[in-house]
Amino acid sequence: MSSSTRITTPFTAQSTAAEVVAGIDLTGRRVIVTGGASGIGVETARALAGVGAEVTLAVRNEEAGRRTAEDIIETTGNKQVLVAPLDLADQASVAAFAAAWDGPLHILINNAGVMASPETRTPEGWELQFATNHLGHFALATGLHGALAGADGARVVSVSSSAHLRSPVVFEDIHFRERPYDPWAAYGQSKTANVLFAVEATKRWADDGITVNALMPGGIRTNLQRYITDEDLERLRAQSGGGGAVWKTPEQGAATTVLVATSPLLDGVGGRYFEDCQEAGPNQPGTRKGFAPYALDPEAAERLWQVSVETLV
Ligand SMILES: NC(=O)c1ccc[n+]([C@@H]2O[C@H](COP(=O)([O-])OP(=O)(O)OC[C@H]3O[C@@H](n4cnc5c(N)ncnc54)[C@H](OP(=O)(O)O)[C@@H]3O)[C@@H](O)[C@H]2O)c1
Repeated sequence: MSSSTRITTPFTAQSTAAEVVAGIDLTGRRVIVTGGASGIGVETARALAGVGAEVTLAVRNEEAGRRTAEDIIETTGNKQVLVAPLDLADQASVAAFAAAWDGPLHILINNAGVMASPETRTPEGWELQFATNHLGHFALATGLHGALAGADGARVVSVSSSAHLRSPVVFEDIHFRERPYDPWAAYGQSKTANVLFAVEATKRWADDGITVNALMPGGIRTNLQRYITDEDLERLRAQSGGGGAVWKTPEQGAATTVLVATSPLLDGVGGRYFEDCQEAGPNQPGTRKGFAPYALDPEAAERLWQVSVETLV
């Protein structure tokens, strides 16, 4: 396959995660799903457990994690659904999670996220959405690099959003120390970082057989919208040309994630952006589909990696 060939699949925006993984056998494969006890993460974990994977739900609320694991075990019959504590906004927690992981890791799904939160900073002074959505996952993936390299063809999935169209990574003021805080610009920036991570990690980890892709899951009613009113949400969607409230179910919302995690059509493919179960093209003005060129920019990707390493020292 030429590196410029855009990947197309038989699946659509309506496909469910279970439909996408039908016929795939993940027996013996080990998967981590961050934020696996809520929303899209639950259905991602369920679909992968349903085709035989050992799935670890990496969660900050262990009680919710245990309830979700029990539910997935009951609905899939797969007993290998585990729970482990992970707070992505707490670097000590991320380091402890990575240190406790033993053996190969075939699929890492960086799914957890926080959206449009009021201005909040971690103890280090980092803006919360960047700290959680990007820095936490960056530290997790780099901390698990050895386990991924040991899996022979591991995949990392970076759950981004069309909200990345709202902002590039503003290197001059990532943490809103100079500019006024804007919850949507902060979310957009963090989601662009999720795509840039896929670009640079794929380049850096090519010799380890690790590929990383990013995706937009669609619009799904979950706890993610906890900081915004229904009215605000509909207004934002209408403004953005989102075509009104065409919500996906969580099962549909997990479909692109599991496609990127498992499809043979993506063997050896990395550094790309998917939505509605297809590789996306560039964004067309006036729409909320496709990728912003700044999100796949290799120079920005390299710069973000360096900044992330320096920030986490
Ligand atoms: N839903 C949508 O319409 C939509 C659209 C585009 C992109 N996305 C992306 O899809 C992903 C999943 O979102 P969702 O809709 O399923 O939202 P959700 O139901 O709110 O799930 C997000 C998960 O992330 C976890 N999380 C938040 N902060 C964390 C932290 N510091 N450490 C560990 N886990 C943390 C949450 O844990 P708690 O349960 O403990 O809060 C929750 O389990 C996110 O990355 C989001 O940006 C969603």
